[in-house]
Amino acid sequence: MSMAREASFNAYVPYSRFAVGAALECSDGSVYTGCNIENAALGSTICAERTACVKAVSDGKRSFRRIAVFADSSNWCTPCGACRQFLAEFSPEMEVLCAKAGGRYVSYKLSELLPHTFNY
Ligand code: THU
Repeated sequence: MSMAREASFNAYVPYSRFAVGAALECSDGSVYTGCNIENAALGSTICAERTACVKAVSDGKRSFRRIAVFADSSNWCTPCGACRQFLAEFSPEMEVLCAKAGGRYVSYKLSELLPHTFNY
């Protein structure tokens, strides 16, 4: 979670001011971090989780153990629907750690957060 927090410092969030960081641990033990990167065309914004995932996949990694998601927020920072589907493409049973302000976090299985994942 400390790596996810550190990654949130690079968030580019001029519109929401809501900085998020993620740290994605691959099955081989390597870790890829990411932050959210917003855009004036708001729909082009990419979340921290997908940033970390595209970095890992573009580096040849396709199997993940867990992801830590950090935001200094009043609610647990759980991944949005698009990120759940994006991660489930590779590792539907991975663990998802979600933080909130104060440093506490909760843990879910991705399959709990997104049951009946779309695939074909
Ligand atoms: N966001 C993330 O990066 N990850 C999440 O889990 C929730 C939402 C971003 C998207 C947008 O830049 C900002 O947080 C507010 O929605």
